[in-house]
Amino acid sequence: MSSVVILGAGVIGLQTAVSLLEAGYNVTIIAKHFPGDESIEYTSPWAGAIWRTHATPDQEEQCRWDLESYKSWIGVLENDRGLAEEMGIQVSLQFILFKELLVLGIPHSPNPSSPSLWFSSHVQNFSVILPTDLPPGCLSGVAYDSIAINPSKYLFFLLSKASRLGLQVIKADLPTSAGLSGAISSTLSLIETKASSPDGSNAFPIVINCTGLGAKSLCPADSSNLYPIRGQTLLVRIHPCPPPNILRIIMHEDPSIAPAVTYIIPRPGTNEFVLGGTKKPNDWSPEPDAETCERIIARCRSIWPDMADVEIEISSMQVGLRPGRKGGVRVGVEEIDVGVREGVMGKVKVVHQYGHAGAGYQNSIGSARKVVDLVRGIVE
Ligand SMILES: Cc1cc2nc3c(=O)[nH]c(=O)nc-3n(C[C@H](O)[C@H](O)[C@H](O)COP(=O)(O)OP(=O)(O)OC[C@H]3O[C@@H](n4cnc5c(N)ncnc54)[C@H](O)[C@@H]3O)c2cc1C
Ligand SMILES: *[C@@H]1O[C@H](CO)[C@@H](O)[C@H](O)[C@H]1NC(C)=O
Ligand SMILES: *[C@@H]1O[C@H](CO)[C@@H](O)[C@H](O)[C@H]1NC(C)=O
Ligand SMILES: *[C@@H]1O[C@H](CO)[C@@H](O)[C@H](O)[C@H]1NC(C)=O
Repeated sequence: MSSVVILGAGVIGLQTAVSLLEAGYNVTIIAKHFPGDESIEYTSPWAGAIWRTHATPDQEEQCRWDLESYKSWIGVLENDRGLAEEMGIQVSLQFILFKELLVLGIPHSPNPSSPSLWFSSHVQNFSVILPTDLPPGCLSGVAYDSIAINPSKYLFFLLSKASRLGLQVIKADLPTSAGLSGAISSTLSLIETKASSPDGSNAFPIVINCTGLGAKSLCPADSSNLYPIRGQTLLVRIHPCPPPNILRIIMHEDPSIAPAVTYIIPRPGTNEFVLGGTKKPNDWSPEPDAETCERIIARCRSIWPDMADVEIEISSMQVGLRPGRKGGVRVGVEEIDVGVREGVMGKVKVVHQYGHAGAGYQNSIGSARKVVDLVRGIVE
């Protein structure tokens, strides 16, 4: 059985672990943070999170990844309510509202076949919102069945699924000062690996780099491409609580307040909602600020008339740093020289998989499938 070591236990590392274990590999995961931990260095717990593709029609691979997650989650929701509950996912009608008519290209009547709506024929219950149903200040909008995800439940679900499949777990902070080969050497010493098989061939494990924004300090060569996209949100209770059968996700993109986007997302399995948010590149600040929170609440009230008078009770204020990367997500193989070990030239194959920015959840299943294919290619 070929051994694989995954660095990182965010949604990307954990989904990759599940996919590799299902494909029959022996998988160990090494990470500083695991589900249940809260840290500004661990993005996954702070996600919204919903399915709303950011891919454009020319990004064929990302379009495919996003659709793969959509189909997989819808399949679970239709066929196994118990599993959906354990995963923390639910179908929610999502309204995407625009201040502009131009955003969709065609005034007054968004055309579902316009390129920005490439996904319209793939999602359930897609419709154009009638002008009379738009909230004040919005000039166009579309609706479709989206999927809301409870990040904490989802991460625990992936970890327990991987554990059932035989995952081995090591909690450790890999050094970032000795470059990539230093991090790999530490990885190798943590898992007591042999450098060669009985037949003398290289028996190093394959290393999968799913360190998110942490990749920045681990990999100097690519580090200038990595940057945070800061997102601030609020977890709230709403009184009176909207009935669960009319839970709605309302997105509203307004170029005049960019880089903000306004949303109200039900959190599956709880009576809480996520109010958001911000999207600010190159801002590392880990603390939520009160003024931004007030502005988020005001924006949310303005896009959903039913919210105008409700009482909003704040459970927590949150900040997450999306792992942005110039040039987009990186999934690919690199060979790293780790020097001579036990008389064997240490060449370790690393499969990089980081930089998923604001799409880590919806990318995760397809992105992990690509890693399985790359690992197969290395092993065979
Ligand atoms: C406000 C907000 C809203 C979002 N909404 C959505 C959404 O609606 N839909 C969606 O799909 N995505 C959303 N995202 C994006 C999503 O959260 C990220 O793309 C995703 O969480 C990235 O996961 P990751 O596994 O790459 O990184 P992380 O979750 O950050 O995991 C990195 C892992 O690497 C480990 N690590 C790093 N460096 C080291 C080291 N030196 N040694 C040991 N371990 C190390 C960490 O401990 C951790 O385990 C949102 C993000 C934010 C902040
Ligand atoms: C999986 O890898 C671990 C760590 O390298 C090793 O201890 C274990 O024996 C391996 N299991 C199998 C079934 O190969
Ligand atoms: C949404 O689509 C699904 C699948 O096509 C269908 O079963 C369901 O009835 C639709 N819901 C509404 C409200 O139209
Ligand atoms: C992971 O990728 C990042 C970015 O390229 C790099 O800095 C880091 O060294 C890599 N880590 C490992 C262990 O491959």
